[in-house]
This record gives sequence, C-alpha cells and structure tokens, in this order.
Amino acid sequence: MPNSPANTLLLFGATGDLAQRMLLPSLYGLAADGLLPADLRIFGTARSDLTTEAYRTVAGEALTKYVPAEYRDDAKVSAFLDRLHYVAMDASDPSQFTRLSDAVGAHGGLAIFLSTAPSLFRATIGGLASVGLASGAVRLALEKPLGTDLASSREINDAVAAAFPEERTFRIDHYLGKETVQNLLALRFGNSLFEPLWNAGGIDHVQITVSETVGLEGRAGYYEGSGALRDMVQNHMLQLLALVAMEPPAQFGASAVRDEKVKVFRSLRPIDRASAASTTVTGQYAAGAVGGQPVPGYADELGKPSNTETFVALKAHVDNWRWKGVPFYLRTGKRLPERHSEIFIQFKGVPHSIFASRGASVLPNKLVIRLQPEETIRLLMMAKQPGLDRDGIRLREVPLDLGMANAFADTRRRIAYERLILDLIEGDPTLFVRRDEVEAQLRRRHLGPFGRHCADRTRRGELA
Ligand code: BG6
Repeated sequence: MPNSPANTLLLFGATGDLAQRMLLPSLYGLAADGLLPADLRIFGTARSDLTTEAYRTVAGEALTKYVPAEYRDDAKVSAFLDRLHYVAMDASDPSQFTRLSDAVGAHGGLAIFLSTAPSLFRATIGGLASVGLASGAVRLALEKPLGTDLASSREINDAVAAAFPEERTFRIDHYLGKETVQNLLALRFGNSLFEPLWNAGGIDHVQITVSETVGLEGRAGYYEGSGALRDMVQNHMLQLLALVAMEPPAQFGASAVRDEKVKVFRSLRPIDRASAASTTVTGQYAAGAVGGQPVPGYADELGKPSNTETFVALKAHVDNWRWKGVPFYLRTGKRLPERHSEIFIQFKGVPHSIFASRGASVLPNKLVIRLQPEETIRLLMMAKQPGLDRDGIRLREVPLDLGMANAFADTRRRIAYERLILDLIEGDPTLFVRRDEVEAQLRRRHLGPFGRHCADRTRRGELA
C-alpha cells in the first residue's frame, strides 16, 4: 500500500550540502518532536569512505551548525544519531547495490530520497531495481533539476517510470513545503471573502518576487548550466503562480490539487522568440556590495565570462476566463540588495472615489503574502486618519495583519523539508509535483536578449 508509513529511509547524497543544511536538520526536528515512526531507521549513502560511526559524527556536526541552539537537546540529538547508518558506495557502479540491499535488509516500508546530481538518477534507479529495492510499496523522492528542457526532463521521467510508477514518485519542490505557501490555500479556500474578487474583475495584477542576497555559493557547476529561469522560475515561482491562479480543487487531495495546478500551467501563454524581448528582462550580477561587504561579480566567481542570467523578470499571462488580461509579474535574482520573497496581489481600485472632492486619494487594496525572511500575510486597506478634517479628509493605507509570527507565536517555524520528508515517509503526494506538471512547466520559454545593463541597475538597488 503506497500510503502506509515507511520504517526505513534511504538517503542518497547523504554527505552533500542539502543533506547537511536541510535534510538532517529536518529529520532531527521531526524526531525531536516525536513525529517520525518510532522504529524508523535512516541509511545514508554517498561516495565518501565513512563508517556509520564517522557518519554519525558528520551528521552531529551538521546539526550543531544548522539547528538553532534552542532546539538542540543533547539526549534527543544522540537518540536521533543512533537511528543513522551509513553505506559507502558509488551509485554509478551497479555491482555495489547488493551491499546496499544487504545492509538495509528486511524492511517494513522503504522511502528513498535522491539528493544527488541528476546524472546519477538513471544508474541509481537501475541499481535499486536490480536488487529489489524499487518494488512493492517503495517510494522515491527526487530533487530538481529534473532536466533542463522538455526532452531531457522526459528522459529522466522515463528512467524513473521504468522502476517507480507515478503514484510512488515524489518530485520535490521545496517551496510547496513552506508554511506560508500552504497558508495561501487556507486563505483562498478557507475564507469566503476573497473568492468573489479573485479574478480579472477584482485583481489588477499579481507580482511574485524571490529576491536573494546570496551569489553562487560554490554551485557554479550546476548554476552555470541552469540560470535563474530554470533554477527558480520554472519550478518554485510557477508553483506559486499556480497556487494563486488555480480554480478551487474539490478537496485537499493529491489528484484534485495537482489537476488544478496543471490546468494553470497549460494555460500559460508561451513566451516565444518574438514576444521575449517585450516580456522578459535578464541580467547578471556584477561586483558590488551586499550588507556593506564587497562581493565579486558572477563571472569573477565563475572564473570566466558567461551569458548565464542571474536575474530574470518576466510578464506572464494565464490565458483563461478567470485571468483574462491580468499580468503576473515574476522576478527573481541573486545578489540583490535584500532577501525577501513575496506574493503581492494588487486589487482593482474603487470605481469612483467619493472622497476626491475632499482632497483625499484612495489607493487600491493589496494583499501581501510574505514568505521570507518573515512569514506574514498583510491586507492593505484604506482608513480615515482621525481628525476633524477642516483641511479636507485624509485617508491612509493601514495594514490588517494576518501575521504568522503574532497569531502563532508559540509555534516553531519549521524547515520546508520537514513537512515534505514526513509526507514522503507517510506516503502523501499532495505537495509533490506530478510528471505532467513538470512537463507543462518546461514548455519552451525564451528569454529576451541578455542585458548587462540590468546588473548595474540591480547593484544600485533599482530592481529590488
Ligand atoms: C533552490 C535554488 O531551489 O532554492 C537556489 O536552487 C535558491 O538557487 C533556493 O537559492 C532558494 O530557496 P529558499 O527556500 O531559500 O527561498
């Protein structure tokens, strides 16, 4: 049964950056809160020649580095580390999988997480299948990039499908594990207030921004072949767009939610060569400063000139009845002056201002859903400024805060992966990306001519 909890988790890429920064801290967070199955064993595997003891030391150091001190409890850390086992192996060598399967032994439900380069996916999946670690109810989670274009994505998906049917394939987009992203669904579909306005009649435009201050962070090999469009837009940002734009699903379940999202992807107006110049802007960061500290430009970090975009802004349209004529502006970049991610919904203004003759201006309402650095939801409304109004009426924009921080102050803010790993272990695919979604996201999109001028504007903060 695909949805009985797994009691064994197998993690490929167990010594890698993602494992250390996100996956081990997430697993620890779940273990510390008693959310993992009591008998869950975790097997890490990677090329590094480590014993289980040595891997536990590596994992312990990762927890010290990446889990805030107030959430670290010595007894819980040590109980968590006891769950870990390690098998050193080269996943590109099929002969090494027997050792892996011997180490895992009999299991009562297996979940596998591939946190490795996609170039290893095919060999790993073949190796798993050859030793019987793909059959039965075994679930497979994969990290992006799942291809750079439709053809390469199909190749990866075909290799996966040869051993794992779609209902046991869990494609990760970690944005879907973010609390505020799910809260967007609660806001839209748990309140009757917004839905009547949530269309071209009530909304003027939508802006989705993911602005980062970090640069390459040692990921040159991956990023140079990807760029901002593939790294951020064609996955995370399109997922956010789909959650804003989709029709109400009949229930909060894997098929219903994903059916609605894929309809949005299929309604996206393609950006072709002819329209790219007028609907997209790209840029690459040059040397500058972040937080007062000098930082090198992209090409300097890379060590050679490059045409890869580290900034992209584009105007998208969802060509359907609900969103006719409503632009969705997406923009993201690295080394921008500030780290913030948000969805900004600009409603239409009132049709006629009764205050105009009294000197007051009325601004249209806005809904701002902040994902980072803080998680807040804020509705900006017009209110009258107190006073006797002898010089005219003054209206002011005031925020109605539906902020996570205040309303749920005693709840720990979880890492997005905690939710996703738990869903993988328990077999709930609702927040994972289905094959047809990935393929619809990857339909050909062109970018406008690469514009160096954009890097300069970015540095000056104009695009933040
Ligand atoms: C990753 C991208 O998927 O998301 C990174 O590969 C990016 O380039 C990261 O920095 C952003 O994630 P978050 O959760 O920090 O917004």
